[in-house]
Amino acid sequence: MSLSEELLDAGRRLLINNYNRAPVVMSRGEGCVLWDVDGHRFLDMTAGIAVCVLGHGHAGLSQALALQAARLHHTSNLYFIEAQIRLAEALARRAFAGKAFFCNSGTEANEAALKLARRYQIVLRNQPKRVELISFEGSFHGRTMGALSVTGQGKYREGFGPLLPDVRFIPFGDAEAARKAITERTCAVIIEPIQAEGGINLPPPGYLQELRRLCSERSALLIFDEVQTGVGRTGTFYAFEREAMVPDIVTLAKGLAGGVPMGAMLASEAVAEAFGPGTHAATFGGNPLASAAALYVQQVMDEQNLLGRCQDSGAYLGSALARLAERRRPKTRGARGRGLLQGLVMEADAAAVVVKAREHGLLISVAGGNVVRFAPPLVVGRAEIDEALSILDAVLSEV
Ligand SMILES: Cc1ncc(COP(=O)(O)O)c(C=O)c1O
Repeated sequence: MSLSEELLDAGRRLLINNYNRAPVVMSRGEGCVLWDVDGHRFLDMTAGIAVCVLGHGHAGLSQALALQAARLHHTSNLYFIEAQIRLAEALARRAFAGKAFFCNSGTEANEAALKLARRYQIVLRNQPKRVELISFEGSFHGRTMGALSVTGQGKYREGFGPLLPDVRFIPFGDAEAARKAITERTCAVIIEPIQAEGGINLPPPGYLQELRRLCSERSALLIFDEVQTGVGRTGTFYAFEREAMVPDIVTLAKGLAGGVPMGAMLASEAVAEAFGPGTHAATFGGNPLASAAALYVQQVMDEQNLLGRCQDSGAYLGSALARLAERRRPKTRGARGRGLLQGLVMEADAAAVVVKAREHGLLISVAGGNVVRFAPPLVVGRAEIDEALSILDAVLSEV
């Protein structure tokens, strides 16, 4: 029995069966390459679902963690935490200058955003009837009850009701529907600037600005869930930066600490006022280890121009996928995305492509059922993109 077989056997017996896991146990990584416990090599175009922005096995990140670990692991937010303050400072220099609350995941960041929005309207603005949350068909915001309640895909919600009341879903990209839906009852609108899990859906030009205009005009808050699109994934630190506008609240996670669990909710100063001492908390939120890792990610992002590199390699990947889509019609329908969040749209379900690709040593994932998603580390090089595309091309000739 190989080590893989032994571990898979134990894993299947001991772990709750809530994931659709591939039968692979990873052992180590370097850049965009992973090796399993038996030494098989995989080219990784998933980065742990858009997380490992600096790539795997990053020596500097490991060292930043080791240095922090040697000094202090955890104190809780009973006290101020140096690395957390420095991280908030670094984030405030990006395109959203507000105040920060740190947590451990994307869903938790969205819970914080929903709670803050409710308290802002109900307590700070004394508008007890402003409770409705508007979200979008095809959206994904996480698995906890609040985030799930604003997730607009039935497959994630099934069997978990009753979820939060006063949530309304409208079609993504339909400005007229938004004009009708946002009223004096609206607490907040929560949207992914690009729907990621839903299939890498880009909004039509001007749509996010129109939402901003409507929310401001009607005193509703605008929450951008940048859990997947943030931290440089689309070539700017936030995806919303192309739109010349800012939301009231923005959530981050995934790439924030480069692979160490961390989430963040940032809010404008005025909205942040709605949380006072004791209103919300997370024991581990912004703990020294996660904050040190995230701070290091911020530093590398600037020193190595990761945003510029992401724009270049994203454009390269996007046009290569478009050519591949053209060549492999009618199995494929096209390609879409921004920066290093790119999708190849298949005519049918993309799961078979993902399985076959893995058998050929390429890791990709499915988004929205029929989209093959590429979300590699932001340090990916052209040679690795070429290798990935040539494996995918061979796979498409087989499926
Ligand atoms: C846009 C978006 N929001 C929230 C989440 C949930 O994040 P987490 O799995 O860290 O809770 C995800 C995860 O895929 C996401 O893509």
